[in-house]
Amino acid sequence: MREKDFVAGKYSASVIDGKVTYKSPSNIALVKYWGKKDNQVPANPSVSFTLDSCATTTSLTYSKLEEPGKDFSFELLFEGKPKPDFKPKIQTFFTRISNYLPFLKSYHFVIETSNSFPHSSGIASSASGMSALALCLMYIENQLDPAMEEDYFNAKASFLARLGSGSAARSIKGPIMQWGHHQDTEGSSDFYAINYPYKVHEVFNNYQDTILLVDKGQKQVSSTVGHNLMHGHPFAEQRFKQAHDNLSKLQRIFAEGDLPNFIKVVESEALTLHAMMMSSLPYFMLMKPNTLEIINKIWEFRAESKSHLCFTLDAGANVHVLYPESEKDLVLQFIKDELVAYCENGQYLCDQIGNGAVEI
Ligand code: PMV
Repeated sequence: MREKDFVAGKYSASVIDGKVTYKSPSNIALVKYWGKKDNQVPANPSVSFTLDSCATTTSLTYSKLEEPGKDFSFELLFEGKPKPDFKPKIQTFFTRISNYLPFLKSYHFVIETSNSFPHSSGIASSASGMSALALCLMYIENQLDPAMEEDYFNAKASFLARLGSGSAARSIKGPIMQWGHHQDTEGSSDFYAINYPYKVHEVFNNYQDTILLVDKGQKQVSSTVGHNLMHGHPFAEQRFKQAHDNLSKLQRIFAEGDLPNFIKVVESEALTLHAMMMSSLPYFMLMKPNTLEIINKIWEFRAESKSHLCFTLDAGANVHVLYPESEKDLVLQFIKDELVAYCENGQYLCDQIGNGAVEI
């Protein structure tokens, strides 16, 4: 599908009012998206595990206006309370997607949203939040166009979510999602994410992600600022090429269940993301001392136990510990014994790979 396929045609049905709820998960990138072109087009392709329990639940109540408004008409409630500081983000999102959803100014919307994870956990809710809202809006478009096919519904939901937050494109489905054109991946697109289309070894079934909350504070660098740092970055072109190469490497790794090389790619991607931030102008250091303590402990434990745990990082100090389900008892014990001490208030979240958003 191309971009123009997402411009809506004439709708065949009319809709007066209703309510829809979607629960959409967060995701953790293995090959990272960092750097973008205009219109939320990624500078390089990325691949992620969709999570299961870290999720946003969003209800959208919609009622048709007497006549279309000049601007968007919406209210926003976060965890039951009005949240004016989230409104500009939604306003920007609506503006970006209104060409593709011509009904947006014809309805009044009440958006009610809540997260399964604590708001001040340092976990970005933009992927789960934007994908949940995109799905609710697609539900309305599906009511207006009942002949819509499921594949189109999912691709357009991902396309819209991407315009809210790039990584949100990968939260519609699971368990492994790829976003961004990659020459070795058939069907891959800069405009929406696809289910990873090739063989995946069973060792990746129910892969575990334990998120260690090292620093629960506000993000030091917004992702918009972060992505912009890649414009004119001295290592940008090499980095973008590396992401393509790592995606190609992962294809064999996924197929064969080659965990030693999976670990190498995933940890190198995490450290490269942070290296890009440290080597940009202005430069940023988003790891905290405890992030490094944890990484060193993971390396020591892996060497002595022969376990296959590894770490990855978002654009922040928290550490995602990834490991196969068969090693769950061993790794969780290690986390409790050795790593919890480095978490803020001893907090961590246990999650695993999931299958994507669901209507509730
Ligand atoms: O979706 P954004 O614009 O917040 O960017 C997310 C970037 C990373 O989380 C650091 C990497 C990724 O691919 O998810």
